[in-house]
Amino acid sequence: MTDLDIFRAVLQRKDGNTVTTAIEELSASDLPDGDVTVAVDYSTINYKDGMVLKGTPGLVRNYPHVPGIDFSGTVTASDNPDYSAGDKVVLTGWRVGEAHWGGYGQMARVKGDWLVPLPDGLDGRQAMAIGTAGFTAMLAVMALEDHGLTPDRGDVLVTGAAGGVGSVAVAILGSLGYSVVAGTGRPETHDYLTRLGATAMISRQELETPPKGPLSSERWAGAIDNVGGPILGNLLASMMYHGSCAAVGLAASPKLQATVLPFLLRGVNLLGIDSVMCPKPRRLAAWARLAKELPIEKLEEISSVATLDDLPKLADDILAGKVKGRVIIDVNA
Ligand SMILES: NC(=O)c1ccc[n+]([C@@H]2O[C@H](COP(=O)([O-])OP(=O)(O)OC[C@H]3O[C@@H](n4cnc5c(N)ncnc54)[C@H](OP(=O)(O)O)[C@@H]3O)[C@@H](O)[C@H]2O)c1
Repeated sequence: MTDLDIFRAVLQRKDGNTVTTAIEELSASDLPDGDVTVAVDYSTINYKDGMVLKGTPGLVRNYPHVPGIDFSGTVTASDNPDYSAGDKVVLTGWRVGEAHWGGYGQMARVKGDWLVPLPDGLDGRQAMAIGTAGFTAMLAVMALEDHGLTPDRGDVLVTGAAGGVGSVAVAILGSLGYSVVAGTGRPETHDYLTRLGATAMISRQELETPPKGPLSSERWAGAIDNVGGPILGNLLASMMYHGSCAAVGLAASPKLQATVLPFLLRGVNLLGIDSVMCPKPRRLAAWARLAKELPIEKLEEISSVATLDDLPKLADDILAGKVKGRVIIDVNA
């Protein structure tokens, strides 16, 4: 794989308060500073990519900007001792695609310290089927395990289950032998979620119904919450004694409306999950587990492939909660 002198990328420009997004031809000399240059094979779309593509304020630091918070590819040039030309690499997080140019182009240049080697057992396409969403799902499972969750403790709830993080979380938990209850607002995804490993479904409507008091009956040994807002507050009130909930997302709301009683009377743990600045040793551990413990056939079930030209529609869809599972972006198609 060699550097492309001219390459295609999604470029965002800002004029006053208006952000425009178009595919443009860029030259290698346009790439930002960094010690590793990568020929990108695949990227993906996450919820945050949707926000960046729609020009949501507060994410992108400078324009013109190339979005795409994740990519996989092949190193073409490196001044970093850890990487050489030809190495297969993966990038998620570190505010790439927000504060730094990201993966929605055929070439990228980044700090080598942000990369991880493509894990043994995965190819670049599969790594992007996982992407930030799947990596975050693994971090959430690891956090729950660190706080004592084991399959014999009881049901584990995953909210926003048919989305990217949710789908991978259901698949990982299912393959680890957990009894997984999938919380979804889309009944048409029930068969899909069952195939991924869910043992039961709960509707978004039921999850949104407030409990009668500050605590309700003990129902969840663990939970991975992708939506925040009233659902997170409600599920905390239904956690079992010493149960843990990993707070991952805000697809419904960034607000948390809850009492402290689940913490004081049931010893419940609310665990924050951050994938962006996650330190490298934990990053490597999470990727190694994903390569081993996420069944490839489930990854195929979760994922579909699209191109750079499809991104504007995908951005609308992911922010409207309409994307099922994970969408891989083939940047060279
Ligand atoms: N902490 C981190 O490091 C980190 C990393 C990645 C993502 N995130 C966050 O995690 C969340 C999920 O990301 P994703 O990439 O999986 O997004 P996604 O694919 O869009 O999934 C979000 C899911 O949430 C549900 N949902 C959407 N709107 C909702 C609403 N108003 N009320 C209740 N449920 C709603 C939908 O699931 P159903 O159709 O099944 O109901 C939707 O598929 C996002 O908020 C994202 O920003 C955080």
